[in-house]
Amino acid sequence: MIQKPRGTMDILPKDIATWQYIEATARRVAAKFGFNEIRFPTFESTELFQRGVGDTTDVVQKEMYTFTDREGRGLTLRPEGTASVARTLIENGMCSDTMPLKLYYLINCFRYEKPQAGRSREFYQFGVELFGASDAAADAEIIALAYTLIKELGIKNTSLHINSIGCPECRPAYRNALKDYFEANSAELCDTCKGRLETNPLRILDCKSPVCSEIAKNAPKTIDHLCPDCKKHMDELEGYLKEMGIDYEIDTHIVRGLDYYSRTVYEFIATDIGAQSTILGGGRYDGLIKDLGGPALAGIGFAAGITRLILAMEKSGVVIENDNRPALYIATMGKEAAKFAVGVVSKLRNEGIYAETDLVGRSLKAQMKYADKKKARYTLIIGDSELENKRAQLKNMDNSNQNEIDLENVEVLKEILSAE
Ligand code: HAM
Repeated sequence: MIQKPRGTMDILPKDIATWQYIEATARRVAAKFGFNEIRFPTFESTELFQRGVGDTTDVVQKEMYTFTDREGRGLTLRPEGTASVARTLIENGMCSDTMPLKLYYLINCFRYEKPQAGRSREFYQFGVELFGASDAAADAEIIALAYTLIKELGIKNTSLHINSIGCPECRPAYRNALKDYFEANSAELCDTCKGRLETNPLRILDCKSPVCSEIAKNAPKTIDHLCPDCKKHMDELEGYLKEMGIDYEIDTHIVRGLDYYSRTVYEFIATDIGAQSTILGGGRYDGLIKDLGGPALAGIGFAAGITRLILAMEKSGVVIENDNRPALYIATMGKEAAKFAVGVVSKLRNEGIYAETDLVGRSLKAQMKYADKKKARYTLIIGDSELENKRAQLKNMDNSNQNEIDLENVEVLKEILSAE
């Protein structure tokens, strides 16, 4: 048997209601904040992610699905959405649109990671990006959107962790302070972090190895090294969050794994879904558009992993049922009745009603069993006499009440079936 590739998933009809519920909620919340959907290619030039996400990141160094096409072009399946959205803006002349520009996407992404609960190689994100606003009010608005989404999905046990990683002005001095600190402890660091000392010492701060995280506890903190502008930005963001009643904690170990971030970074962490507990992460990236060849344009956003949202919803006791019940199931006896039922079903569907009749030649008993399984709200049986009189008993399956109806009066039937 051919199996799906490791780290991918089949999303089956029995689970689809939850996915569709999350997608619909995400779209509704995004619309409430004035965000429009954007779609972009599943694969891009490899260079986009090398330059956008950053050459020293784990994503670019170890996790990309990169290939050459038949003409020898270097392409990569998108590991995330932000770099692609930035490219889209530049390529389509949208950097001079009316700002702020607010965009959202629902996409699949690809990263060659070790699969485990909440982590797969093909995974799904809901992401939002807001461009052209450098004020902390934009950070607050994006965080409020994330907060609203999580609340509307019924997820309970989460905490919001925020940090500032400074800007190109203040980060070099902080980076040096951090490097000095970790160099003094370098013998004990894990092999990955030894490598990070030169390339990206900030990432040592969120290493999950017990020894590294113990050492990181006493490391210099970004927020103690911020330049006055970055400090003011952080203070203002805190003021906005307090104004909106959104609880948060300053977590100096949140540094994020992608290179484009500056100033605000944040994560929503679920306390009860295991090791892959970051359900949503994001931050500000004021240099990205310029780095990719566009004008200087501020940006901030986040992405949430759909499977992690599902895990968190399950832990919060949220159950989403498939509520697409047939309004009517018509059971039939004999060829003529079956043909007549096809006509009635077709008329009802034209009126926007979900109706079904037998397609596989079941016995009457088996048809009723099927209607029951599909949780049909009403059933009716058409046999010879019903066919002759064009009347039948319409049975309400929820309370067993029966009503005789005129089979040719689709208007009345529609009225009964559409009433709640
Ligand atoms: P990220 O932290 O790499 O950020 O991913 C965002 C979210 O995607 C994570 O918090 C997690 O929920 C989910 N995720 C990441 N990797 C996996 C995986 N292998 N399996 C399942 N879920 C996963 C970004 O992607 C940024 N583009 C977010 C952003 C948008 N920042 C600014 N704008």
